[in-house]
Amino acid sequence: IHYFPPLITGTLALSVFTAVLGSLQFGYNIGVINAPQKIIEQDYNSTWRERYSEPIPSQTLTSLWSLSVAIFSIGGMVSSFSVGILSEYFGRRKAMLINNVLAFIGGGLMGMSKISRSFEMMILGRFTIGAYCGLVSGLVPMYVGEIAPTTLRGALGTLHQLAIVTGILMAQILGLESLLGSEQLWPVLLGVTVLPTVLQMTLLPFCPESPRFLYIIRCQEHHAKSALRRLTGRLEVSEDLAEMKEEKRKMDMERKASIAELFRSPMYQQPIIISILLQLSQQLSGINAIFYYSTDIFKKAGVENPVYATIGAGAVNCAFTIVSLFLVERMGRRTLHMLGLAGMCICAIIMTTALTLLETVPSMSYLSMMAIFGFVAFFEVGPGPIPWFFVAELFSQGPRPAAMAVAGCSNWTANFLIGMGFQYVAVSVQETATASNGSLTCLWHQNVL
Ligand SMILES: *[C@@H]1O[C@H](CO)[C@@H](O)[C@H](O)[C@H]1NC(C)=O
Repeated sequence: IHYFPPLITGTLALSVFTAVLGSLQFGYNIGVINAPQKIIEQDYNSTWRERYSEPIPSQTLTSLWSLSVAIFSIGGMVSSFSVGILSEYFGRRKAMLINNVLAFIGGGLMGMSKISRSFEMMILGRFTIGAYCGLVSGLVPMYVGEIAPTTLRGALGTLHQLAIVTGILMAQILGLESLLGSEQLWPVLLGVTVLPTVLQMTLLPFCPESPRFLYIIRCQEHHAKSALRRLTGRLEVSEDLAEMKEEKRKMDMERKASIAELFRSPMYQQPIIISILLQLSQQLSGINAIFYYSTDIFKKAGVENPVYATIGAGAVNCAFTIVSLFLVERMGRRTLHMLGLAGMCICAIIMTTALTLLETVPSMSYLSMMAIFGFVAFFEVGPGPIPWFFVAELFSQGPRPAAMAVAGCSNWTANFLIGMGFQYVAVSVQETATASNGSLTCLWHQNVL
């Protein structure tokens, strides 16, 4: 048996780097609306005053902002269904190239919305960039997984996740008021997302198409060979080709399953329910309430520099993503996922307790900040990374694309519910709390009297 140590060639490194520029933008657009919330809301308000010569009712403002945040997930949901079609029709590389059009339109709309005095443009831009991110979340892992040699597939695959959390952190830092999160510069903050797009469009023509796509789907052995030669840096690629032949043989043996079949066939029912529940547990844990709204949360928790706390949460997020890369290989998926969820639950309880005591003990704002950091850390230990590759591992080649589509759809739907609902829940809880406080005070007064 010949053993060729896997070599990271220049072409392989360039291709992976180019692809994960998309993941970086995905993360960037998750985190970018967090810090400048108040400033953009003021602009919505002044636009409203110019149009209707009255200040915006606060409920309308909540609705408009929640929609601006959450419609991102609707875009993602819609487009994640077309990953399969686009990647087979155009190929992985061209699909990524075409997807950049969406980033240009989305970034342009958001960047121009202030000059045009139009929050509709902002909302439409968030939808478009969400659609871009939906495609990224399917295309990038697919391309990276297919160009990576088998021994490096896991390691290179994690770069997608790592680029996402780096993107979130970059957006939080650039969102500082002294950088781009100011009244004048927020359109730049939102529009700057087109820069990585330009870089990706420049570099993509130098990256080879996925050899697996060329061979398994297009049956172009010759082209697949030359792509393999470029990626491995070796002239002799018959072993890699044999591996793909084996993969194709297995694929041909197994029929593709439709989405309806996943729910009807007893063989798939349990795995698909597990997949959906895992995705729901990831999103309904409320993690995106932190990534979308943490600056506002920290402010309400009495933290002095809420934007810095948000950046802190982003840094914790990055650090624990790296920690989880090591944990995932050593501990079971189920254990890690449950450990993560339990940790998040405890942190949420600590946070609630700390916020309740805030009025009597001002230093509680630190405790609630630490609890939020812990919440994010536990998320990345289990519920963050695990649901995705769990789905891929539960299903074999045939039903996998349909299962991934169902999982993606449930993930984006839950993401939308959290993004859209969080502020309403926060407002109504606050009102209930104030109301019950009021009645308690009344009771107390009556008793005293
Ligand atoms: C909108 O702006 C006006 C005038 O600056 C202000 O009084 C009002 O509180 C603002 N409304 C909201 C919901 O922020």
